[in-house]
Amino acid sequence: MAFKLRLMCQQDLPQVNEIDHEAFPTLWPPPNYQRELKNGLAHYIVACDDEQKYEPPAPKADPTTGLWGLIARLRLRFNHHNPSGNEPQPPAREYILGFAGIWLTAGEAHITNIAVRESYRRQGMGELLLIALIDLALELGAHLMTLEARASNTDAQSLYAKYGFIEVGLRRNYYTDNREDGVLMTIEAITSAPVQADLRRLRQAHARRWGKIATALPARNSRR
Ligand SMILES: CC(C)(COP(=O)(O)OP(=O)(O)OC[C@H]1O[C@@H](n2cnc3c(N)ncnc32)[C@H](O)[C@@H]1OP(=O)(O)O)[C@@H](O)C(=O)NCCC(=O)NCCS
Repeated sequence: MAFKLRLMCQQDLPQVNEIDHEAFPTLWPPPNYQRELKNGLAHYIVACDDEQKYEPPAPKADPTTGLWGLIARLRLRFNHHNPSGNEPQPPAREYILGFAGIWLTAGEAHITNIAVRESYRRQGMGELLLIALIDLALELGAHLMTLEARASNTDAQSLYAKYGFIEVGLRRNYYTDNREDGVLMTIEAITSAPVQADLRRLRQAHARRWGKIATALPARNSRR
């Protein structure tokens, strides 16, 4: 599979919301990712499959109301005929497999989210996104990373533990949908030689196992 990592952009939001819905159904509506993209402290990335295109669902055309109704009426008025009978569709987009984000404050990168499409899980994609988040945090000058995971989300906890995050506390009733506790995990001194050596080893092991080498994200000021 050919794929790439890049910063999230506006056009990604329909797919990001789709993936969010699949990953966190009980927390809907989702975070306002549109607002997140404008938040200077927030940094989101997506992993795309370069060989697949995303076909957005066709808009439901009501011939009498809304924008599509207006377009249909204008077409009739000016005698415009679309021989295919279909409304023009926006161009196909890169197919997003997963996304992840951090908030950066005072040298601390807090992981807000990491989610992979259900049909692509257990193929090293979550790990890849985490590696990219750690790299991004380092590039942005962070020295510490933190996150909360649901107490029941042992899959996610084991992903983070694999990358050296350790459990440092419990936030009681942290999640609003079911009052579940949040496990607070951190990895300290991410710039230190031992942590860097561990990350190098994990990255190499990931590349050997999955053959997926993330195209590095371009330099920060050339993104978006
Ligand atoms: C958590 C999540 C991002 C993992 O993504 P993924 O692509 O399936 O994970 P990977 O294939 O890269 O797995 C990496 C590591 O994560 C852990 N892991 C992931 N899925 C696991 C599972 N079902 N059971 C046990 N461990 C699991 C393992 O440590 C695994 O390493 P291993 O393959 O050496 O055992 C994915 O399950 C997901 O999107 N879940 C829903 C959203 C979510 O809970 N996000 C976390 C919020 S804190």
